[in-house]
Amino acid sequence: MAVPALKCPFLSQLTLQQVRASAPHIFNAGMESCPIFSQFARKISTSSVQETGNLSKTTSSSSSSSSMCRPLSLNEIKAVHEKVFEQKNQQQATLKSKTAIKTAFHDKKTPNPYGEIIISVECEDLSCPFLKSTPIALRRVHMDQDTIEVNRNSDNFVRPTTSSQHENVKAFEYNHFFNDRIEAKKRDNSYRVFKCVERKSGCFPQAEEMSSLEDDAESRRITVWCSNDYLGLGQHPKMKKAVIDAVTAHGSGSGGTRNISGTSPLHEKLEQQIARLHKKESALIFTSCYVANDTTLYTLAKALPGCHILSDSGNHASMIQGIRNSQVPKHIFRHNDINHLEELLKKIPKHVPKIVAFETVHSMDGSICDLEAMLDVAHAYGSITFIDEVHAVGLYGHNGAGIGERDHVLHKMDIISGTLGKAFGSIGGYIAGDAKMTDFIRSYGSGFIFTTSMPPTVLASALTAIEISKSDEGRSLRRKQQENVRELRSKLIDAGLPVMMSPSHIIPIHVGNAALATLLCNHLLNRYSIYIQSINYPTVERGTERLRIAATPYHTSEMIDQLVDALKHVWQDVGLTLKSFDQQQQQNGPAVLRQRA
Ligand SMILES: Cc1ncc(COP(=O)(O)O)c(C=O)c1O
Repeated sequence: MAVPALKCPFLSQLTLQQVRASAPHIFNAGMESCPIFSQFARKISTSSVQETGNLSKTTSSSSSSSSMCRPLSLNEIKAVHEKVFEQKNQQQATLKSKTAIKTAFHDKKTPNPYGEIIISVECEDLSCPFLKSTPIALRRVHMDQDTIEVNRNSDNFVRPTTSSQHENVKAFEYNHFFNDRIEAKKRDNSYRVFKCVERKSGCFPQAEEMSSLEDDAESRRITVWCSNDYLGLGQHPKMKKAVIDAVTAHGSGSGGTRNISGTSPLHEKLEQQIARLHKKESALIFTSCYVANDTTLYTLAKALPGCHILSDSGNHASMIQGIRNSQVPKHIFRHNDINHLEELLKKIPKHVPKIVAFETVHSMDGSICDLEAMLDVAHAYGSITFIDEVHAVGLYGHNGAGIGERDHVLHKMDIISGTLGKAFGSIGGYIAGDAKMTDFIRSYGSGFIFTTSMPPTVLASALTAIEISKSDEGRSLRRKQQENVRELRSKLIDAGLPVMMSPSHIIPIHVGNAALATLLCNHLLNRYSIYIQSINYPTVERGTERLRIAATPYHTSEMIDQLVDALKHVWQDVGLTLKSFDQQQQQNGPAVLRQRA
C-alpha cells in the first residue's frame, strides 16, 4: 500500500534518529491531537487498518471523540505552526537584545547522541502546537545533517506492529541479502579480491607479495606500478625518523576529538604549513581527503541558502557523496568542459549561491583541467570554487602545492582540498582557503567535529613531507618522476599498447572489459612479478576498464623495460592485439583519445 505523504512542518525539521526514537509517542499522541496525523491515519485506515491493531484502535477512538479530526486545510495547519514559530522568534529576539544572550545559551547544554555536550548556541527547543502536551522532548541542532521530510520515501516507512505479528513473522534474512549482492558483483566481474602486499622499508618500489601464500611458502618480491605513494616519501628516511620521534615523544593516539583534548601544537602547525603551502589564510585537517571532500561540500551546500552545485562528471566518489547527501540541486557538466559549465551557470541567477567542484589532475584518466579558465568562468557567474588537488599536491608547482601553484592561480582558488596520503606518503586530508570559510567548516562540519583527531605520528610525517616537497630534494624527486613517466609512456606507445593520452603522471591503458583487465593483472603478477591493479566499475564506468600505471622517481629504466615487455606478452596471451599509435588513432581514436585534457 502506498502510504500518503505527511507534510508536517514540525516533524520535517527533525532528524531521522529523533523521529525514529519518538515514533510511538508521536504516533499515539499525534493521532489524538494533531489534525495532520489524524488525516494521515484516516488515509491509512481506509486501506489497511486491520494490519495494525494499535493504529485501528487509536484511529477509531480519535475519529469518534476528537473534534480535532475535522480535516484542516494545509493553509490552516501552516497558519497554526507559523504563529507558534513567530512567537518563538520574538522570544529569541528579546533574549538577544538583552546582552545576556551568551550566558543564556551557554546555560543550556544538551548531550547529543554521541555523548558530547553541544553548547546550545546551536540548539533550540522545538514545540509543536498539537504535540506539546505529550512527553516528547525534542531539540533541533541547526543545520542538522539528517534533516528529513517524514515519509519522503514511503518504502522505508514502517508502521508500528503488534507483538503477535512479531511471533509469526520471519526475521529479515540478512545473510541471504548480503550473499545475493556479493554474487551479483561476482557475476559482473566487479567483485574485488585484494592483493596483499607488504611494503619493505628501503625497497620501494618493490614489495613482497603475500596474497597467494600457503602457510609455509616464501613470499615473493614484486615491483609495484600502481602505488599512489607517488614520490616514495612513505619510506623516506626523514619521514621514518619523524614518525619514530613523534611516537617516542607523544605516544600513539591523539586522545580525542579536536574539541575534546585532541588538538596539539602538531595539529596547529600542520594546518599552518598547509595554509602556507597553498598561500591561503587558513587550513583544516581531516582524517582523510574523502572525509574532507564529503564534509566540506555537504556542509557548505546544506548551509548556503538555496545553494546549487555544479559538479564535473568525472568527480571522485568523495565529492559525489557530499553533494548527493546535501540534496541541493546539482548540475553535472561534461568532464573539464568549460563551455558546458558556462551553459549551466547561465541558467542559475547570479545572486544564487553556487559551488563549482572539480579535480585538477583527474585520478583515473590523468587529464588536467584548464584551471584558470574554469575558475574564471565560475567566478563570472558568482560561484565559489572547490578544487580537489589530491593527485597534484606534492607533484606539481615549485613547492609541490599542485596545479594551482604550477599555473600561478592559487589566489583564484576559493577552496582547495588535498590529501596527505598519496604524494605526501602519510594519511589524512585537508582543505585550505579563507579563514572565515575554514572556521565555518570547523564549526559546523560533522565529519570534522565528531571524530578522533589525527595521531602525532601522522602529523609529524605529513609535516616532514611538506618540508621535503618545498625543498630542492622535492623538486628533484618531481623532475625524476616526470622523466620516468615520459620514458614509460613513450615505450608503452611504441609497444602498441592503447595508452590513454594524458598530460599528467597517471598513465591509463584502455582495456574496456572487467574480466580481461583482471586477467591481465593476474598474469602480470603471477608470471612476471609485476603488480598493476586493474581499475573496474564502480571506480570507472563499465566499458572503460583500464590498467592505471604510476611511475615513481625510483623506478629504473630496467624496470620500465621489464614492464613493457611483460605487458606485450600478457596482452597477446589474453587475445588482445598490439597496434601502432597511428592504427589506434584511426580505429578507436575517440575511445582512446577522448580522455586527452
Ligand atoms: C580525486 C580524489 N579525491 C579524493 C580522494 C580521497 O583521498 P583520501 O585517500 O585522502 O581519502 C581520492 C582518493 O583516491 C581521490 O582520488
